[in-house]
Amino acid sequence: MFPIFKLPFLTIIGIVKSCSLKEIVMLSMTSNRSLRIMKNLLNHIRFCDNNNIIIDMSIYTSVHQIKVITVHDRCNTHVIDSKWMRTAPSCDKTFNNRKYFLNHYMYGLKTYWQDDDEAIQMLYNHIWKLFGTPVTNLEFNPSEDKLYLNLLESVLNNQDAIPQGSVGLVNLSEKNCARVLMHLQKVQNLSLSSNVLNCDASKFKFQNLMIEDGDNISFQKLIELNCESIGVYQHCNKDNALQNNTLNGYLRRWTAGFFPRLKSFRLETKASLTLPEILRKIHLEQSADQIEIDGEDTVLTAGPLNIHSVADGKIGTVYIMDTWNEHGHQLTIFELSVEN
Ligand SMILES: *[C@@H]1O[C@H](CO)[C@@H](O)[C@H](O)[C@H]1NC(C)=O
Ligand SMILES: *[C@@H]1O[C@H](CO)[C@@H](O)[C@H](O)[C@H]1NC(C)=O
Ligand SMILES: *[C@@H]1O[C@H](CO)[C@@H](O)[C@H](O)[C@H]1NC(C)=O
Ligand SMILES: *[C@@H]1O[C@H](CO)[C@@H](O)[C@H](O)[C@H]1NC(C)=O
Ligand SMILES: *[C@@H]1O[C@H](CO)[C@@H](O)[C@H](O)[C@H]1NC(C)=O
Repeated sequence: MFPIFKLPFLTIIGIVKSCSLKEIVMLSMTSNRSLRIMKNLLNHIRFCDNNNIIIDMSIYTSVHQIKVITVHDRCNTHVIDSKWMRTAPSCDKTFNNRKYFLNHYMYGLKTYWQDDDEAIQMLYNHIWKLFGTPVTNLEFNPSEDKLYLNLLESVLNNQDAIPQGSVGLVNLSEKNCARVLMHLQKVQNLSLSSNVLNCDASKFKFQNLMIEDGDNISFQKLIELNCESIGVYQHCNKDNALQNNTLNGYLRRWTAGFFPRLKSFRLETKASLTLPEILRKIHLEQSADQIEIDGEDTVLTAGPLNIHSVADGKIGTVYIMDTWNEHGHQLTIFELSVEN
């Protein structure tokens, strides 16, 4: 490679300023010395402060990706396992003494490795050292024999919390669901497939939890969840939809102080719901709240009404809205929102 680091400092600065993110990442990967130099140069041009970097990481079994995104540029680095090595062009490189194949494309780098799990760990460490920026968004899809918990632990060693995260439809044993959930408590906005709740979820505390495939979620599971906010989406199937009386049971538990951290509960369902049934035998009052409705296709159909928690005196406001999804199906939205 052309020895760019032998050039005068100001010249190097000029070069780095005109480099794309992809070039910066690639240059920094050539040796530990170039990582150190690039990092110093980036600090010098205050690259990390000014550009508001976003780091997204996605983990799937045998394919991973780290995206570095700034307002003006992006670099996606794919980490692909050895099965695909033969499809890779023959440009081979080394990184931390490990051989890999490299392929460029417009928005980034495709890298092919003998051991993709080790590679994603090395690459994550590298990106952290280079930019010092926390992971903003994590897509995490472990499997029974590849849980990637060491990687999660490294991330959580470097940052207290992960702002956004999601886990798709994975197939994990009860024990491994619990191990994964244990770590994911540090994700502030967490979207989970209900499959990942295949364990006693009451041991864990979440901040904002979304269950997008919540069609079959049971009452039992619902009351296990300890969150500040929960969204359950029952968009596909209404056979196992949460019933008026189930929601009644949930609200009664709230009034008895069962979910002291809860600030908001939202259910979107294809089933129709009626507020008088949901509030049966719960003491209620008219609410003076104005419900803000976003979306012109959404209409308030019942409420708002206030209920009280006898345990801590908090007031919860409940209401129902109707809306339509992108397929033109009518959906009912039930919400409980708890005043601070
Ligand atoms: C670069 O440093 C890492 C640890 O920081 C080490 O594992 C690796 O072996 C070093 N690479 C080379 C080529 O010395
Ligand atoms: C979590 O999601 C809510 C609503 O979607 C958003 O207002 C909030 O900023 C998000 N929080 C984080 C930490 O990303
Ligand atoms: C899920 O994993 C179990 C064993 O770990 C296996 O028996 C089952 O077939 C898997 N299910 C799916 C849908 O892959
Ligand atoms: C919910 O259960 C039904 C059968 O009752 C099944 O057909 C459907 O696939 C399940 N949905 C999810 C998201 O698990
Ligand atoms: C709620 O109650 C209404 C009125 O009895 C009924 O029409 C509706 O099907 C019920 N829905 C659910 C999901 O329980």
